[in-house]
Amino acid sequence: MSTLIRGGTVVTSEMTYRADVYCEDGLIKAIGKDLEVPSGAEVVDAGGQYVMPGGIDPHTHMQLPFMGTVASEDFETGTAAAAAGGTTQIIDFVIPDPEEPLMEAYQKWRGWAEKSVADYSFHVAVTWWDDTVHRDMGILAEQEGINSFKHFMAYKNAIMVSDEMMIASFSRCRELGAMATVHAENGEMVYHLQQEMLKKGITGPEGHPQSRPPEVEGEAANRAIRTAQVLQTPIYVVHVSCKESLEAITRARQEGQRVFGECLAGHLLIDDSVYYNDDFEFAAAHVMSPPFRPKDHQRALWRGLQSGNLQTTATDHCCFCAPQKAAGRDDFTLIPNGTSGVEDRMSVLWHHGVNTGKLTINEFVKITSTNAAQIFNIHPRKGSITIGADADIVVWDPEKTRTISAKTHFQNVDFNIFENMETRGNPSHTISQGNVVFKDGQLNVVKGAGRYIKRPTFNTHFAALEKRRAETAPRKVNRAAQAAE
Ligand code: URP
Ligand code: ZN
Ligand code: ZN
Ligand code: ZN
Repeated sequence: MSTLIRGGTVVTSEMTYRADVYCEDGLIKAIGKDLEVPSGAEVVDAGGQYVMPGGIDPHTHMQLPFMGTVASEDFETGTAAAAAGGTTQIIDFVIPDPEEPLMEAYQKWRGWAEKSVADYSFHVAVTWWDDTVHRDMGILAEQEGINSFKHFMAYKNAIMVSDEMMIASFSRCRELGAMATVHAENGEMVYHLQQEMLKKGITGPEGHPQSRPPEVEGEAANRAIRTAQVLQTPIYVVHVSCKESLEAITRARQEGQRVFGECLAGHLLIDDSVYYNDDFEFAAAHVMSPPFRPKDHQRALWRGLQSGNLQTTATDHCCFCAPQKAAGRDDFTLIPNGTSGVEDRMSVLWHHGVNTGKLTINEFVKITSTNAAQIFNIHPRKGSITIGADADIVVWDPEKTRTISAKTHFQNVDFNIFENMETRGNPSHTISQGNVVFKDGQLNVVKGAGRYIKRPTFNTHFAALEKRRAETAPRKVNRAAQAAE
């Protein structure tokens, strides 16, 4: 199977140039002007279009068992919807229950993901701690291609970690050359404020943002970042939603710390007014954590992407349909947290980022693909258009429009947070492992064609940190000689 993408403009994180791209056996085999069409090759006409690395969504939750239910989007439908939007790889999460052995949870998720139609990797969450967790993190990192571990600082009485566990796990991450990642919200504060809301009779979805104010996120982000600083390990903050946590990241980066921040398409574009809507179903459909924020936070997040203080964009794609959200009709704390977006991220970022001049086309590639590939150490195999890289490519038509709607999207959920948004700039073709899996608005995917992508430990930041550590090693004062005098 071979594919020639002809007549397009290649856009990478660094360069923009006219070239054809030839893919064979799942890899990019040639890049150049006027390549010959090999016999039997499928030809994709990319005239007037951009040829970019396929999107990487570093934060999804397909078929996640969460808050008493299971996310409606599974690995097959979710990776297919991703492909329809130009995203060719997801990094999902293994989330063990407290006390559940990490290896068991990992094998369970690997099994669920086998039906994926496009490539995938996993972060593994550390939700409890003992010697077996310490051991299993080593097996996962050294044998199973896991190079990032997630810590939920929220969700008290469920998957929340204590500071003690976080310190133990961050230290282990450093030993293993794995990225520590955090969901930064002070779970004790959230719990306290939730009880306050319920006592006041605020039981509807408007209680959700009011019990998770930005300060609660900023405090946790700062705590996690300072903890990582003291332990001298890199850290990645997922779904940065507000000025307070962005400020913590920016400050630390200005001090030279290796801190990375992700933001979600939803947090860039949707504000907290949705929670005050009269319609319970509409408001509940937006319940996700951290919540959508007042508009000034969105402006700050865009500036975070522009300045490079935020490096990646994701969706936290975690779908629950109206009957599932209804579990919290009388108590907002029981509404399953999560919203969709894996299909829409690239087009809404292009429309609101590139079309408005906030982002260049190269910056678009960085924040939708290359930076995630570099941080999670799968670059240049992923996130690049280079000879030998995986042929995961999106052919992007900057003039193609789409009106986003739950009625027409591929995502397996009955609601779309971007409903009725018209985007200009959409994929005309998505190519996964060299195969055209989406064209003319139609998917042509194969269940199980997606592969588990192992990610090596010790990305480039660890070598630099190792040298810093040697320079700043703890020192002892030897007073024995003095005493003998
Ligand atoms: O509300 C959310 N984000 N649900 C998924 C779990 C998480 O916190 O990432
Ligand atoms: Zn250890
Ligand atoms: Zn989270
Ligand atoms: Zn998440």
